[in-house]
Amino acid sequence: MKLLVINGPNLNMLGIREPDIYGKQDFAALEAFIRQAADECGVEVELFQSNHEGAIVDKIQWAYGKMDGIVINPAAYTHTSVAILDALKAVGLPAAEVHLSDVNAREAFRHLSYAGMACKKSFIGMGFEGYRAAIRYLAGKED
Ligand code: DQA
Repeated sequence: MKLLVINGPNLNMLGIREPDIYGKQDFAALEAFIRQAADECGVEVELFQSNHEGAIVDKIQWAYGKMDGIVINPAAYTHTSVAILDALKAVGLPAAEVHLSDVNAREAFRHLSYAGMACKKSFIGMGFEGYRAAIRYLAGKED
């Protein structure tokens, strides 16, 4: 099984950006964590990070016919991007949403997730572990 894992804007700044919210580990540590979690699950992963909405839409479209599912943390675009929602719906691949922080316990504007409307399940406020849970979920290893 092949999964595309997408990280949106500013997640490349992990470790520097608001460490009290997002933790002290950097983005390289997150990518290493995701690769290991996928490995343990017998899943192949393609990792993609972009600060650009259109690039994320392009990558979701690229996944059609190549990938078996998508794990996505659209970061701030979660709360604004109908284009990412439509791209996820267009390709129709099983998708799972991840947020490092508990978006529902933060500002009201973070409570709405457009991308989440096209996802089978959301893993919120679990830190890095949310990515492992999302990979295991799409691989059918847990509910
Ligand atoms: C985030 C939560 C978003 O609200 C925020 O804009 C992010 C990261 C998270 O992983 O907790 O950039 O998606």
